[in-house]
Amino acid sequence: NSKFMKNLKSIALLSIFLFIYANVSAQDYTVTKNHIKFNFFLDANGTPTYSLTYKDKVVIAPSALGIAIMDVGKLSQGFKVLATETEEFNQNWEPVWGEVKSIKNDYKALFVHLKALSNDQKEIKIDLIFKVFDDGLGFRYAFPIQQNLNHFIITDELTNFQLTADHKTFWIPGDYDTNEYPYTISKLSDVDVTSLSKASTEISTRKVVDIHSVQTPLMMKTVDGLYINLHEAALVNYPAMQLHVNRDNFDLSSNLVPDAFGNKAYVHTPFSTPWRTILVSDKAPDILASKMILNLNEPSKIADPSFIKPQKFVGVWWEMHVGMSTWDYAGTQNASTAADVDHLKASGKHGATTQRTKKYIDFAASNGISSVLVEGWNVGWEDWFGQWKEDVFDFVTPYPDYNVKELQDYAASKGVKIIMHHETSASVTNYERQQDTAYRFMKKFGYDAVKSGYVGKIIPRGEFHDGQWMVNHYIRTAQKTADYHIMLDAHEPVRPTGLHRTYPNWMASEAARGNEFNAWSVGNPPAHETILPFTRLIGGPMDYTPGIFRIKLDKYGKPENQVHTTLAKQLALYVTLYSPLQMAADIIENYEEKMDAFQFIKDVAVDWDDTKILTAEPGEYIATARKAKGTNNWFLGAITNQDSRKLDLSLSFLDPKANYILTTYADAPKASWDKNPEAYDIKKSIVNNKTILKAILANGGGLAASIILANKNDMKDLKKYQSK
Ligand code: NOJ
Ligand code: CA
Repeated sequence: NSKFMKNLKSIALLSIFLFIYANVSAQDYTVTKNHIKFNFFLDANGTPTYSLTYKDKVVIAPSALGIAIMDVGKLSQGFKVLATETEEFNQNWEPVWGEVKSIKNDYKALFVHLKALSNDQKEIKIDLIFKVFDDGLGFRYAFPIQQNLNHFIITDELTNFQLTADHKTFWIPGDYDTNEYPYTISKLSDVDVTSLSKASTEISTRKVVDIHSVQTPLMMKTVDGLYINLHEAALVNYPAMQLHVNRDNFDLSSNLVPDAFGNKAYVHTPFSTPWRTILVSDKAPDILASKMILNLNEPSKIADPSFIKPQKFVGVWWEMHVGMSTWDYAGTQNASTAADVDHLKASGKHGATTQRTKKYIDFAASNGISSVLVEGWNVGWEDWFGQWKEDVFDFVTPYPDYNVKELQDYAASKGVKIIMHHETSASVTNYERQQDTAYRFMKKFGYDAVKSGYVGKIIPRGEFHDGQWMVNHYIRTAQKTADYHIMLDAHEPVRPTGLHRTYPNWMASEAARGNEFNAWSVGNPPAHETILPFTRLIGGPMDYTPGIFRIKLDKYGKPENQVHTTLAKQLALYVTLYSPLQMAADIIENYEEKMDAFQFIKDVAVDWDDTKILTAEPGEYIATARKAKGTNNWFLGAITNQDSRKLDLSLSFLDPKANYILTTYADAPKASWDKNPEAYDIKKSIVNNKTILKAILANGGGLAASIILANKNDMKDLKKYQSK
């Protein structure tokens, strides 16, 4: 009897074992690559579930996936695997421009073909595609052509990222309309928009619905030293994904930006969502060096990219932001009384005049700067802001004191280009109606680059900057400008997701809190630029507009405002904040006073064969070296947050057989961002790949350096480079 019981028990045990085994073998899939281990299975309810580890540490604990479709239902359970496929891919490709010359796209993919049942019991097919890279995971939902799903409305995406603990997080609020926020560094459990200071969040277009949601790229650090970044790649025909933070269990769930009706996306089969991305490493520089997001985007659609030219530009720009001149002709923008209006008219504060623009063109020509941006050249600026008006700008009618033809000829005679400015005032249907006319006007008058802008609430009403409707507008604009052979720099768009691989004429976006905030608000805290590369720039280049030399703004009657860095740090940003389009943002007269420091901006490259992230810690410091395209010259930038620090930077990346002239633009001994921000020292020396550069950074400071291949004469003339 007891023997029988024993047998029965072991049979029971055996069958449980078999059951699990069957489950594992049928519906549990693991992909390993480098230190990453990815796992997918259907849980007991048939919920698609994935997890991720790095060096055996759990990055993402089992997390549910799903999607909700109008009239079809919430597809989160009862899935069945129809089939799976795997793929291994390894190929190099060359970007039109970039941080490196060649990019390795190396992943293992798992395709899971699934089916689920709609509310009315019809079969719906959904594929999950996972790509496992050395430095992370990308995955997307795909909807193949099928009987029961054709045109459909996605009402919710049910993607979860189950984190393991209360990680340190660098976040901005889940605002549907703007990403121009300073970052908050807190625990996940402290993510709460209402905790932010009013001054740092006061933006006219604010639209925060969920006070516990954040925007991506979301950077995190775990107590055991893992760096985790969540974002998305190839945001096409879909709204941006924000993340709702469940502060009790550290589950982050997708929160798609809605349209005017609360719907998320209108699509039809075949359709794929953007890639959800997870980057992970135990070394912070790996996050900055990752090319995963680019690899998840489609190759370039531009057959002949020869019109695309990485470049530096100056502009009639900062002078308006600091209030020295105005965008509008009448100068009424800041005037509250009729007397003010008269006074401003008389004082001639309009910035974009023919005369003033010529000065910028002269400066650009004599300093090897390619282009001049001119804002406020076209009529409409008198009442463009906060009005929510349909027809503000037409993009072809200049103010009477701005002579388009004369400036075209003048610029051409000096070998300089003028960059067009299209402030749409977020009246996007108006802009779309006029785009062809506007781009034809540009071509006629010799412009080949446009800076666009989307300040204000989106018209049509109810759409948001980061919703599907606008996402499609930005991409159509990239495509249309490409058709006209125009380079594009978008301000106030959705944050990038690597689409510059597909549309390399879309060279930069602002899409975060740029340097402009230092001109007229509480500004950007000194840590800001040490966070941006880990957050906003994970998706692509940023037009931050660095290079402000006059740090304190009392000269413009604004003693309460200043840039929250030293001058040397402004120089270092040309290297640490990557963009193929870099503005030298200050007023030219400020540069003319410090041409020795401006030399770095003249010299620094904007396109690179190689990049080395020498050291980095989000919110603390970053040091980056880059090799200028087609040369043996390097440029280096090191920056710190509000704390002074010393960094020993090995120049071992240099060619071991060569000597180089190192020119450092460093904070002077008593410099600091708040008390003495403009004090800098320039030194020269001969270095090689054994040199350790001792970078001493002031509070809120930085160091910029050029490292130029030395020739024989330089070596003979060593004394010239012997600095004390
Ligand atoms: C905001 C942009 O970021 C800034 O660069 C521009 O000058 C203003 N809008 C006016 O268009
Ligand atoms: Ca802006």
